[in-house]
Amino acid sequence: MPLALGSIVDGLAMARDQRATRPGLHSATDLGDAHLLSPPVSYTISEEDRAALCLHQDSATSGRYAYQRSGTRPAVVPPVDRPTVQQILVVDDEPQLVEVMGRYLRRLGYEVHLAGTAGQALELVRRHKFVAMVCDVGLPGISGTELVRCALLDEPHLAIVMCTGANDAATAKAAMARGAADYLVKPVPLAELGASIERALVRRQGMIEQEEGDRQARDLLSNRTEELMAERSALQALTAGVAEALVNAMEQKDVFLRGHSQRVAQLAGEIAVAMELDAATVAAVQLGGRLHDVGKIGIREAVLHKPGRLSEEEYAHVKEHVAIGMEILAPLPNLWPALEFVHHHHERVDGSGYPQGLRGEAISIGGRILAVADTFDALTSIRPYRERLGETEALAVLGGMTGTMLDETVYAALEQVVRDRRARWLAPFAADVPDTLFMQMAS
Ligand SMILES: [Fe+2]
Repeated sequence: MPLALGSIVDGLAMARDQRATRPGLHSATDLGDAHLLSPPVSYTISEEDRAALCLHQDSATSGRYAYQRSGTRPAVVPPVDRPTVQQILVVDDEPQLVEVMGRYLRRLGYEVHLAGTAGQALELVRRHKFVAMVCDVGLPGISGTELVRCALLDEPHLAIVMCTGANDAATAKAAMARGAADYLVKPVPLAELGASIERALVRRQGMIEQEEGDRQARDLLSNRTEELMAERSALQALTAGVAEALVNAMEQKDVFLRGHSQRVAQLAGEIAVAMELDAATVAAVQLGGRLHDVGKIGIREAVLHKPGRLSEEEYAHVKEHVAIGMEILAPLPNLWPALEFVHHHHERVDGSGYPQGLRGEAISIGGRILAVADTFDALTSIRPYRERLGETEALAVLGGMTGTMLDETVYAALEQVVRDRRARWLAPFAADVPDTLFMQMAS
């Protein structure tokens, strides 16, 4: 296969390199007045064996070179110890210097691109996948330090070695602060340049591996968190199902309570939304509404169904439903904070409630919401001892309890919910109802 790399000069350099590492192999320096017989690119071997040494690109090693004697089996040069050819960009406005550095780095096995200005360098950075850049500090136009910043924006993992004159050391250090890995003072010994690039590449590889490790750790944590959230949701759904069965059993005892907890859950959830609480709290409020009276399963039916006024002993017995409910639900701790809301649903903001006599904001927000929703639903539902109230009357009764027994903010949200419900209910008929009447009905 014919030589594909730029020029015969490169081929000669490769041949010299191979001679250094493989003494038995004839190289271009053995050829005397070597001349080109192309294609393929060939050099006449000197008098020793009069064979031809053919230099060609070995497609199997992707850009590496092999030598063969004419008429003999190709002797493939072992690839350098890198998985692929690494690309390096050399940027300097001194053409001779940039050529020397480029030639040296090619001998080390890198694919080298050259640039004389920062603009050319950035253009090449965008077109190639460089692992490293050797960069002069004192470039015309855009400076070397600015080039460092711009190049790292395009290729964050680029290993950058600065080359500077003796009086540019402070600037070179500034370039390192912008992300360069090292700086060398001109004249730069080539061996030192090679060693510096190797160090920068090792550091670069370490950064890449660390970022990859961090990314994998984040992915693992994210996946595990999602799994835990799914498990938690499944457990909560199972627990809520158990609690639902308890509520259904409780409601079987009392026809007047049937549907009460479902309506309280619905209304409390709407109040929580109107108060712009977060979704998790809204869900907990709804669950608390469903569970708030589960303890009534432990209340004597004669007391629950009593049509007249309760005696003190009977009322004390009814109040026990909060403690009984907490005992029933205690084995389901993952229902928290809904459990706390259940515990607080008979507390009153003036401290007159039970079981703890909490005041104001010592009562959980869910507890204050359930108190309002529970009272409103009780007033607007039929009870053995009284008729139901209309919503407007019930709102008026609750309005008289705000600030003393019920939370004012929650009551305001209830008013909004009732208004919104009426508006939704009336909306289909709005076209048939005079505006003034509609406004009265919706208010
Ligand atoms: Fe209750």
